Amino acid sequence: MSIIRSQVLGCGAFLPETVLTNEELSARVDTSDEWIAARTGIRRRHVAAEGEKTSDLALKASRAALSRAGIGADELDLIVVATTTPDETFPATATRVQAELGMTRGAAFDVQAVCSGFIFALSVADNFIKAGQARTVLVIGAETMSRLLDWNDRTTCVLFGDGAGALVLHAGEGEGGIADRGVLNTKIFSDGRMHDLLYVDGGPSSTQTTGHLRMQGKEVFKHAVTNIAAAIEASAHDAGVTISDIDWFVPHQANQRILDGTARKLGIPPEKVISTVADQGNTSAASVPLALATAVNDGRIKQGDLVLLEAMGGGFTWGAALLRW
Ligand code: UT7
Repeated sequence: MSIIRSQVLGCGAFLPETVLTNEELSARVDTSDEWIAARTGIRRRHVAAEGEKTSDLALKASRAALSRAGIGADELDLIVVATTTPDETFPATATRVQAELGMTRGAAFDVQAVCSGFIFALSVADNFIKAGQARTVLVIGAETMSRLLDWNDRTTCVLFGDGAGALVLHAGEGEGGIADRGVLNTKIFSDGRMHDLLYVDGGPSSTQTTGHLRMQGKEVFKHAVTNIAAAIEASAHDAGVTISDIDWFVPHQANQRILDGTARKLGIPPEKVISTVADQGNTSAASVPLALATAVNDGRIKQGDLVLLEAMGGGFTWGAALLRW
């Protein structure tokens, strides 16, 4: 039986030019390259220039993805932007990207699931395609996390970076089995009771300010490996594959110790885990598509490979997506 599959036509990424090293941060707050590298694996991160907005990063990643896909923006039916750092409270950053790309039909909207945003946006896009409501969708993860940070708080300001990644999905045909190309499943979860462990202390309806990111890192860490491992297992089980069948794991890049802990827990060989955390830090919703683009561009991920994406973030939110490239 033939079914609709959301197949990848191309992906792209963009990182702002300015790089902020651990050494440079050590001059601003009481920290050190040794502490940051040992506790997180992060060495440097990219930071948006003054006036460079989330939509600017999203646009550049989108142009790269559309070029890879070999299609024009006029062929898109839908743009979904995952971001927790929109240009403005409204309208959606996706509509800015839509206008800049010159797409004058279809729809564009944002999805807010913090660091899990790209998995949630991919899930939305896949379901629009499977329901026959869109044929070609641009899914973007884009963030300027540097704007949400309290630069005097060493427990958070050393962790995050800015960037964007994008994926073009197109409705194709499959047989319904795991040999199909495209998205095989998406699994998304949330638990609103965990709000106080990771949140921003401001917003239009509470303080009328943007606020700053607040995190109880140790507590979040404890949940991260458990939740991520559960999402990976749910996705693999649902598709009827074993962990060893999966060629590449593309995780949210919060902390190298979380990547290592999850791999250890599930018996994933470290060489199958794509890590960009050393050079990019935690770019929230952008981290999964940025890591994906890195591994596609350097030739690790090839057509036909089975790829598992996963993330966990504020809310809490977490999830996984299994796709055959
Ligand atoms: O993307 C969304 C999901 N987010 C995450 O998954 C993040 C999860 N959490 C983590 O990655 C880690 O918990 C952190 C990297 C945030 C922190 O690492 P940790 O090993 O859990 O350290 P800690 O918070 O227990 O802090 C240990 C010590 C503390 O000092 P005392 O109390 O032992 O004297 C901190 O004050 O390290 C101190 N510390 C620092 N020292 C130097 C905290 N931040 C820094 C810093 N530089 N930047």
